[in-house]
Amino acid sequence: MYSKKIIQHFANPKFFGKIKNPDAVGKAGNPRCGDLLTLYLKVDKPTKKIKDIKFETLGCAAAIAASDMICELAKGKTLNKALKIGFQDVSKGLGALPPLKIHCAQLVTKALRDAIEKYKKEMVK
Ligand code: FES
Repeated sequence: MYSKKIIQHFANPKFFGKIKNPDAVGKAGNPRCGDLLTLYLKVDKPTKKIKDIKFETLGCAAAIAASDMICELAKGKTLNKALKIGFQDVSKGLGALPPLKIHCAQLVTKALRDAIEKYKKEMVK
């Protein structure tokens, strides 16, 4: 059911963990399956690029693999470019999620957007 890539990212996530003093924290949860994701961001202020990103996910294997994939896709990107990462990009990066697990990719894009929106709001204060 899962691609090799999904299993690799689930079994050996590179971005799992917490960032001390993050610039923003994004959260997303899915009340149906109970999965919960927290994303931590560190932003390089002059370039507005994501210089560090980590996640903590309580959820299924696909949610963990998708969390790791979105971190890989977002790291080094500007905030505006990272906002454009869609759940299809996450699924493609993992070699396609099974249709029943597409909502796991939607969950992680929601958490990334939440973190970026919160960061932007803080910056205009
Ligand atoms: S089963 Fe719901 S996020 Fe994976």
